[in-house]
Amino acid sequence: MSYYARHVFFCCNQRDPAERTSCNIKGASQMRDYAKQRVKDLGLTGQGKVRVNQAGCLDRCEEGPCVVIYPEAVWYTYVDRHDIDEIIEEHVRHGRIVERLRI
Ligand code: FES
Repeated sequence: MSYYARHVFFCCNQRDPAERTSCNIKGASQMRDYAKQRVKDLGLTGQGKVRVNQAGCLDRCEEGPCVVIYPEAVWYTYVDRHDIDEIIEEHVRHGRIVERLRI
């Protein structure tokens, strides 16, 4: 059995936009912080439950900001807190994939 039931990785990489776009330019760190707090407030954190972590570049920069959730290996993008709320409520909490945000 996995240590965490769901492991959520937010790409928070930032690079010079002249080089290539990156998730942090599109607000990834703030949304990671928001998701971490939200998951904590819902009492979902800890062994056997949920972990939210930041990741480096996942190489889907143009489709981002990116988040990927395991064990399902489902990728999402998001715009705002409303999208994060939906991902947490639907996928993280209940295992229902949010097709409208999937990449
Ligand atoms: S910077 Fe986020 S996927 Fe590359």
